[in-house]
Amino acid sequence: MKGKDMKVLLIGSGGREHAIAWKLSQSKKLTKLYCAPGNPGTAQYGENVDIADTDVQALVTFAQGADIGLAIIGPEDPLAAGAVDAFEAVGIKAFGPSAKAAQLEADKAFAKEIMRANSIPTGESRTFTNFQDAKAYIASRDEAVVIKAAGLAKGKGVFVCDEPSEGILAAEQIMVDRIFGDAGNTVIVEDKLLGQEVSILALVDGRNIYVLESSQDHKPIGEGDTGLNTGGMGAYTPAPIVTEKLMDQIVKEILVPTIDGMTRNDTPYRGILYAGLMLTQGGPRTLEYNVRFGDPETQPILMRLKSDLLEVMLAVCDGKLNTVNLEWDPRPAVCVVMSSGGYPGSYEKGKVIEGLDDAARMKEVVVFHAGTAKQDGTIVTSGGRVLGVTALGDTIAAAQARAYEAVDAIRFEGAYCRRDIADKALK
Ligand code: GLY
Repeated sequence: MKGKDMKVLLIGSGGREHAIAWKLSQSKKLTKLYCAPGNPGTAQYGENVDIADTDVQALVTFAQGADIGLAIIGPEDPLAAGAVDAFEAVGIKAFGPSAKAAQLEADKAFAKEIMRANSIPTGESRTFTNFQDAKAYIASRDEAVVIKAAGLAKGKGVFVCDEPSEGILAAEQIMVDRIFGDAGNTVIVEDKLLGQEVSILALVDGRNIYVLESSQDHKPIGEGDTGLNTGGMGAYTPAPIVTEKLMDQIVKEILVPTIDGMTRNDTPYRGILYAGLMLTQGGPRTLEYNVRFGDPETQPILMRLKSDLLEVMLAVCDGKLNTVNLEWDPRPAVCVVMSSGGYPGSYEKGKVIEGLDDAARMKEVVVFHAGTAKQDGTIVTSGGRVLGVTALGDTIAAAQARAYEAVDAIRFEGAYCRRDIADKALK
């Protein structure tokens, strides 16, 4: 990087990456943005580069040739594959944790060990590498269980099972049928926790923590939180259920011990730490960690961020998070995900998307692209989660109404969305 020239390489191609690109494009510091591989949304703010997000060597070679000053790694797979380590090895700053620290998400058994070693509140669980042992344990439990593949499974590796027979079937599919391949070599069997789930994301520079505004995702495909889990069907921020007092408790009992524990474990943490929590009657319990921005939580959170995201990310990389102060738009934001019919099962691609310009013209609305592609100048569907339609409003109800108004302006064959995103916050 020369002088004030700040070229950024953003890695990933989802709605989260479109939201990051949108926010980075407002930075005074940014001189050029590349996205690898990006999507038609990120292409509005920079140049998409045709390199897969997991091809770490090709990404590093490109970054060296393009004089990149900062690499931002969006998804978990390249983080777990050592993208940050590889960029830093050639002297390029990279936003995100090292491969060793990314185990917090890439290996749920490792995450459970960190929780146990640091007395971080979580559900009672056991870890298994043998199906017969897992089966015997599940059969011995009276209560509902959650079966989790320990490795990365694109957000689909968690099964909530109300009956032992369902739990045994899930463990068999993961460990014997190997539906997630090696990601299912180890399985966690955890007691099902009751309550509301919240997403708490924090910037961490190794020592300092800055907690972002609270949010709630909607993981199941069906309204009323029914049906199969997805990557997330919508999110809103702030989550009124997370009071200031509760946030203080989460920071003290979960975030700080996690960061301290990672340092003591010789896997110091830097980047975004995302704690997925269940708010039980006994207090917050840690369900899982993610080592990157949430998707779709990032879309409404970044709509509310007023500060320069690039400056903040550089402060994280430089261990100077204490020198920046983040400013927020006090208005809530709601993101509704529009998905392809059939998702999270099989779905067809290539459906022409209409009405994007009408939605984009609406005040305080941004339509973030996720599974879209450009074909002969037309935007078509190319993934399960297609768009994250996001709106600000004076109240959560107003943001919700505006987001759904924009959703209703967009059409493609088979389009689906949940109609109850943010209803929880209104109850
Ligand atoms: N919204 C869930 C996730 O990002 O994993």
